Amino acid sequence: MIECKNGLFHLRNLSLSCLLRVNRYGLLEQVHFGAPVRSEDVEALAGQPGLGWGSSLLLNDKDPGSSPDAMALAWSGSGRGDFRESPLEMDGQSTDFCYVNHNVLDTPPLMECGLPQTHGKGETLEILMEQPGARLRLYFTLYETAMTRFAVLENTGEQPIALHKLMSFSMDIYGSYTMTTFNGGWAAEMQRCDTVVGASRVVNESATGASSNQHNAGFLLSEMDATEDAGRVYGFNLIYSGNHYASARQSQQGFIRVMQGINPAHFCQTLQPGEKFETPEAVLCYSGAGWGGLSARMHKFVLNHVVPEYWSRRERPVLYNSWEGCMFDFNESRLVDLARRAKNLGCELFVLDDGWFGKRNDDLAGLGDYNVNLKKLPHGLHGLAQKVNKLGLEFGLWLEPESVNEDSDLYRAHPDWALTDRFPTIYGRHQLLLDLTKPEVRDYIVENVSKVLDSANITYVKWDMNRHSVAVGKKAHEHVLGLYDVLRRIFGPRPQILLESCSSGGNRFDLGMLCFGPQVWCSDNTDPISRLDIQGNLSYLYPQSTFGAHVSASPHAQTLRATPLSTRGNVSFFGCLGYELDLKHLAAIEVQEIKHQIELYKTYRRLFQFGTFRRMKNGWQVSLDGVTAAGVFHKLVSAAPGYEQLRLKGLDADKIYHLRTRAQKIRIGQFAHLLKHVAPVNLNPNGAVINTADKHYGLEDGVEGYRVSGAALLSGILLQPLFRGTGYDTNQRTQGDYGSNLYIVEEV
Ligand code: DGJ
Repeated sequence: MIECKNGLFHLRNLSLSCLLRVNRYGLLEQVHFGAPVRSEDVEALAGQPGLGWGSSLLLNDKDPGSSPDAMALAWSGSGRGDFRESPLEMDGQSTDFCYVNHNVLDTPPLMECGLPQTHGKGETLEILMEQPGARLRLYFTLYETAMTRFAVLENTGEQPIALHKLMSFSMDIYGSYTMTTFNGGWAAEMQRCDTVVGASRVVNESATGASSNQHNAGFLLSEMDATEDAGRVYGFNLIYSGNHYASARQSQQGFIRVMQGINPAHFCQTLQPGEKFETPEAVLCYSGAGWGGLSARMHKFVLNHVVPEYWSRRERPVLYNSWEGCMFDFNESRLVDLARRAKNLGCELFVLDDGWFGKRNDDLAGLGDYNVNLKKLPHGLHGLAQKVNKLGLEFGLWLEPESVNEDSDLYRAHPDWALTDRFPTIYGRHQLLLDLTKPEVRDYIVENVSKVLDSANITYVKWDMNRHSVAVGKKAHEHVLGLYDVLRRIFGPRPQILLESCSSGGNRFDLGMLCFGPQVWCSDNTDPISRLDIQGNLSYLYPQSTFGAHVSASPHAQTLRATPLSTRGNVSFFGCLGYELDLKHLAAIEVQEIKHQIELYKTYRRLFQFGTFRRMKNGWQVSLDGVTAAGVFHKLVSAAPGYEQLRLKGLDADKIYHLRTRAQKIRIGQFAHLLKHVAPVNLNPNGAVINTADKHYGLEDGVEGYRVSGAALLSGILLQPLFRGTGYDTNQRTQGDYGSNLYIVEEV
């Protein structure tokens, strides 16, 4: 609901209140953003400036409360007495936008520049502010669990405006907060970093051309005592895939000014008279129930208003992807053999990754070309897709349309289509980006990708992009708009294609890409222990159905860490499950385990993909319609460990549940040296008997089942003990390092 009365604007629902007020100087005050309050509370919520603060500049010499520097604002000018960071910089001049009028709309207006936007019904407040020669429209849209904001600046004067910075939003919130950002790099995305926000500015930004694996655009502000289940937490994100910027700083008066938008570094747009600039939509979310409460609200928002409606709650197939198993080394018969094996395991979709076109036999050549490599695939994509379909699998394809190798027919024909600057070429993964600001480049991509998609029965696309950009400023933004144009033209008419975006893994995990496809490849790092951080930290802001999560080989290609297959499965269950390893050399016991994993995942797929996700101290849980799945994960074990508790959340204390473990097996080889103590004969731990047994038989592990009340599960039950060096027993969790269990808890 949006209430507007006498210069007071109140956007309120069951999750939040945003209370704005136009003050006597025409400035827009942010009286409150947080838990729902009443409009009548405005005086009590707004600060009373009394006699003001020394050294202030006053808008009215007789009013000590007229210092912009001391006000909590929803937008601020610069050079006019507010010395905090301004969300707007233009012409190197001061700015001073004042309220003119407002409107309430049923939904936010469609942007003209082609930026992706939220969908669904969201009552919107439009506030018009003006200064001589320019008009600023601020949009506030209220959804069930979050609010979005964006800004539009229009040149109403006669001279061009040089726009250097225009944030999507700015607001001042009272209190002391820690800013949590998610930083990293290739294969190490989403590392959580907590920085106390004080008098120095804390910044989260990307400058690589994409939202980047270095700094995800989403971030949190948490009150110092916030926990997973209690305390005030704000979450912010941007519906944008390019260079982003966010900052937070605490003022002398105790307000934190927080803002987010396109990165102003190098940014400059010239607005001719009559021209407009539209910012991306930013997402603002609040919960008084800790990080868990905030995540639940963000997840709901992303599913309901960001990901394409067709896919928002549609179940995703279990896929097999050829990349880690084959890389570039495949031909049709190898792929069909893999597809047969994948089908036998229970997979539903076979994805052919990189290497199917042009001279793409390594990463030195071929990007930009679309001709199928007939040496590898003599019957083309169509022939391969038919064979895969015949096996009962859907067929999906990898593409990297934004890039070009110098060794490609496209580059030889159009070297000027590559995105360069005026300095010598620099390379990333031996490739260049195509200049998506050029209409002919966009047309080329749309035409060729469309042809490929229509050439075979392709139901899934992995859209990859593997280098950082050299575009800065205006070009960087226009490049992102070019990408959105291409995606819209290709996938708009094909909404039923499942689009998983990817950029060297999670280099573009953002809400902009999620507007076009419902899932993103989280990381090239599929080591489950690394994934505990990557998926766990993504879960603060993104629902698990947006995660591509695959089981790969062990020891892992990026970390060399050896982990049990059960743990690789248990971690990948909390996302869109896939397999990405050479299936030819799986041991019988691995085949058995994977079959079991897929069967269980299919039984509880809706729960895993769309259940309410919660982080526990020792793992994750998802709950839906009276069923909960909980993964308990371990890193390094210690000797003779004590008991461990399983403490679930969100159950009904008065109901009775049945809890059981997913039956999983441990490899005999793990205990080879110990077997001699129990076997009647002296077995060689490296000998053929143990090696053969290891491949075929497993030992039952952690078999557990109870009828137990919701009250006990909420309070915490003690799980079976971990291995303590005192012998093997099925009623114990004999796991060693990186072990895990999955528990299914169902209402009786
Ligand atoms: C990077 C992706 O993240 C990988 O999954 C794979 O598709 C390769 N590109 C292929 O070149």
